[in-house]
Amino acid sequence: MPETINKVQISVKVNGKTYAVKVELRMLLVELLREELDLTGTHVGCDTTYCGACTVLMNGAAVKSCTMFAVQADGAEILTVEGLEKDGQLHPIQKAFGDAYGLQCGYCTPGLLLSTLQLLSQNKKPTRENIRKAIAGNTCRCTGYQNIFKAIQLAADNMRGA
Ligand code: FES
Ligand code: FES
Repeated sequence: MPETINKVQISVKVNGKTYAVKVELRMLLVELLREELDLTGTHVGCDTTYCGACTVLMNGAAVKSCTMFAVQADGAEILTVEGLEKDGQLHPIQKAFGDAYGLQCGYCTPGLLLSTLQLLSQNKKPTRENIRKAIAGNTCRCTGYQNIFKAIQLAADNMRGA
């Protein structure tokens, strides 16, 4: 007799669109985003909650989507990198990362963009130390971080109209 895998119905709003989906209890949030909703901008770089490539915002707070079950997002609002652009215009944070060369391979970038958005929504004029703490959970293996700091500072300046 085949084993029955229990699925539960959840409702989750992702980038402004509500999805009603049936998920296995063991499904991770990142799997829901990438495999069920086809939002592959959220990356997986480790299996250990280390790298932060999978960072998304859940109800405005940065979370590592590889470390949460999809069922834990039931009723929540999720923002992924695909939700940053508006009407064909890059979000100021995306633009600043490009302008300040804050990326090389780009694998870490979606997670960094969302950690930056969380920071700048709470602190419009972050110090270097504030930035360091905000991105402490995001690992970049290419850039050496200097241009990432510049990009976040530039995004903060531009968003304040400085
Ligand atoms: S994939 Fe590395 S922290 Fe989530
Ligand atoms: S740009 Fe390659 S890992 Fe960050």
